[in-house]
Amino acid sequence: MNGQTASLLTFFVLSSLPGAMLVYTAYSPTTGYSFVVFEDSVDDTDSWFEARAKCRVHSQYADLAEISASDFTIVQDLLSNSQASSSSYWIGIYDHLSEMNFKSLYTGADITFANWDNDRPKNDMNKNCGSWDTSNSYWKDEACTGKKRGVLCRMLTPIPSSNIDPNTGCPPTMVPFDDVCYDFRVLMTGNFSSARQACETLPGRMIIPESQSEADFVDLYTILTGKATFWLGITDEEEDNDLRSIYGPNLSFEKWHPSGSGVVASETDCAYIDTSSGYWLTDHCDEPKGVMCSFVPPLLQEETTVAQSITSTSETTQDAFTIVASTDHDVTSPTSSEAQGPYCKPVERKASTVMSLPGHTRERSHRHAWQRSADESLHRASPVCEASVSGR
Ligand SMILES: *[C@@H]1O[C@H](CO)[C@@H](O)[C@H](O)[C@H]1NC(C)=O
Ligand SMILES: *[C@@H]1O[C@H](CO)[C@@H](O)[C@H](O)[C@H]1NC(C)=O
Repeated sequence: MNGQTASLLTFFVLSSLPGAMLVYTAYSPTTGYSFVVFEDSVDDTDSWFEARAKCRVHSQYADLAEISASDFTIVQDLLSNSQASSSSYWIGIYDHLSEMNFKSLYTGADITFANWDNDRPKNDMNKNCGSWDTSNSYWKDEACTGKKRGVLCRMLTPIPSSNIDPNTGCPPTMVPFDDVCYDFRVLMTGNFSSARQACETLPGRMIIPESQSEADFVDLYTILTGKATFWLGITDEEEDNDLRSIYGPNLSFEKWHPSGSGVVASETDCAYIDTSSGYWLTDHCDEPKGVMCSFVPPLLQEETTVAQSITSTSETTQDAFTIVASTDHDVTSPTSSEAQGPYCKPVERKASTVMSLPGHTRERSHRHAWQRSADESLHRASPVCEASVSGR
């Protein structure tokens, strides 16, 4: 690996306040990330979750390090050349979702590089967090709590003026899901109104999962903070027992605790997620709980327009197709809808992201999908299923 020659290995003291640890960093010009360790074991943590918080205290843009192949040597040199003395460091990978399938904390995608120790990762539901063993640079999967480990952080350096990490499409430390960035505030707890204010200042909004897949994503990332509870953007402050979105529309998805207890009670008006079960409950709005927000990133560039068409012949195997177009493009079916009729049936037509934020309303793109009928006789009557995209 010639990352060695390309890397700028810099050790410097960022802080020498009384009681503060010396901080060592190394910068990777290839990925634009800085890696950060603290000098000695005083800053080690008993849990992977505390280590995440420690990174965030160091910089609001830092989180536990995920290490790509091109950054491996840089991190190895940082750990061996600095006076950071821990025998093992927490790193930003986890397999809470599916055993032995480690994911990136930053993108939620599978990790693309690993340097596992022999027999690792183990098929063990209690070992969900990654660590780096400094004796051999191998990685282990370990229980996320109960072991003293050093803290190895990573942050984009410098922060681009757009405030978007090009690797995720989101501001640093926010996580992408379905074109929206999610901010699970590792350091913040607050009452319902301060949570709402924090989100709307982004400008963003409190999270209200609208589908099972969004709920699964939210459950996972709340678990990864180590906090017990998080506010949702749902209250019945206006009318008792009528739990509604604070943003108006009726809830399109709900996950109330099946027992019903702790959901509707006249004195508890604000909804939250219990991270141990993933169910929604209500509590007094002035209680402190975790804060999670969604944020629509500014468009990095003009959205690309994808147009496809399928023409039915007896050999056609494609049964459905989708067009996603930016808002300044129209999608039309050249054949009349009657002609397409039952053979080429529009099954979806929706804005893929509609966000109405304070001072900022945006429909990013619209998605159209068609399904080809399985009825062969219709294929012969109306053989074409196609659509096109044009700029406005
Ligand atoms: C929203 O819910 C209320 C109460 O259940 C119902 O009366 C109303 O029709 C719903 N509105 C929409 C747009 O679904
Ligand atoms: C919520 O917390 C903020 C900040 O601590 C405080 O100023 C406010 O009074 C609290 N509101 C309620 C309703 O408890």
